[in-house]
Amino acid sequence: MQHFHPLMELFNNGTLNYNKEMYPLSEIILECVQNHYPEVKSLDTIHESMDTNELFELGHKVNRELYNTDFYKMLDHVIGDYIQQATGEEVLIQRFPSIRFLQPNQDEQGKVLQFHQGRWVGNGLGLYTIWMPFTACYESNSMQILDLEPSREITRKSVLEQWDYEKLNEECLKHCWPITLQPGQAHLFWQEHIHGNIPNRTGKTRCSLDIRILVKGGQPHRKWPGSYFRPLHKDFAKKPEFKQGENIVAYAEYEGMKTKKLDLYFQTLVVKGYCQRAGIPFPYQHGDNESLGNHYLEYLLKDDTIDHILLTSMFSLPDDAEKRIRIMKKAVAQNCKLHLCNEDIIVETAEDIENVEYLRTFTNDWSSPVDQLEEELYGK
Ligand SMILES: [Fe+2]
Repeated sequence: MQHFHPLMELFNNGTLNYNKEMYPLSEIILECVQNHYPEVKSLDTIHESMDTNELFELGHKVNRELYNTDFYKMLDHVIGDYIQQATGEEVLIQRFPSIRFLQPNQDEQGKVLQFHQGRWVGNGLGLYTIWMPFTACYESNSMQILDLEPSREITRKSVLEQWDYEKLNEECLKHCWPITLQPGQAHLFWQEHIHGNIPNRTGKTRCSLDIRILVKGGQPHRKWPGSYFRPLHKDFAKKPEFKQGENIVAYAEYEGMKTKKLDLYFQTLVVKGYCQRAGIPFPYQHGDNESLGNHYLEYLLKDDTIDHILLTSMFSLPDDAEKRIRIMKKAVAQNCKLHLCNEDIIVETAEDIENVEYLRTFTNDWSSPVDQLEEELYGK
């Protein structure tokens, strides 16, 4: 059950205004796009100058490249100042938000974003969404959203009656309205508001960013602090360095509440991706003995043979805080770096331990909003 939070009022289909002269976010995105496609003149005509099949990938590229600009620093200020004034509370913010381009007639390529709400797509109810357009958004090029009450009503009925998508779409179309904003504004909503797109018949591309925050103690569901979220104005991620002749091993386990259902193949993919980014081969892989409380990890730290251990995530470390801190302290003392691959965090100093603990204890609510809805509906 979601408890009242002060952000609920502001994010109940609210609007955030920011100073676009001070924070020229649209211009920075356009420059980034022009690095790939110099012929693009404006974001809303981008479809005239490039193959629209490449737009999705371009969004991914741009959102990573924006880290080399002031974009995210500015965004942290825009959002951080707003939240600070609203609640004064600490929040985490999404590390890699989504930049989206909605081209005209996207339905002809089968790319209409379906109607959905946050809890259906992995978001916990402790998340709040900021949807920020960088082109004028209106009518069919904008996101279509529902008010809270029809969203809740449709949610309840669609689950109870197991509607097919046509029925969900039909009911949402009766109640939705287009978000109408200009650059310099953002739309604020939470995870129960149903939203989606319709075929864009405006002849203009819409460019927007969606970014989520997690409130302290809030329910993250499938969006993990550390990998999905970072603190505002900070990123604990580091670039790894490996020296010739150092001993590197990978480590997998199934003890953690987040990792116990993450089978080896998927854990390995995360570590392989990290190795690829770092430019090293995938090293020898240890798998701990399930149900013996990470005992091999502790054993590996008994002497200073190993220089680097690559763990899938900070959630691969024990859930028990005392044990987790003891292991990290032992690694720091032995000069063995613990690489938390999913978070890009390296534990090598006392400060790193504090950072990991900050993220690990930011919330303790690991309940599921989908299970909660079922309980509400069926009284399970
Ligand atoms: Fe969404």
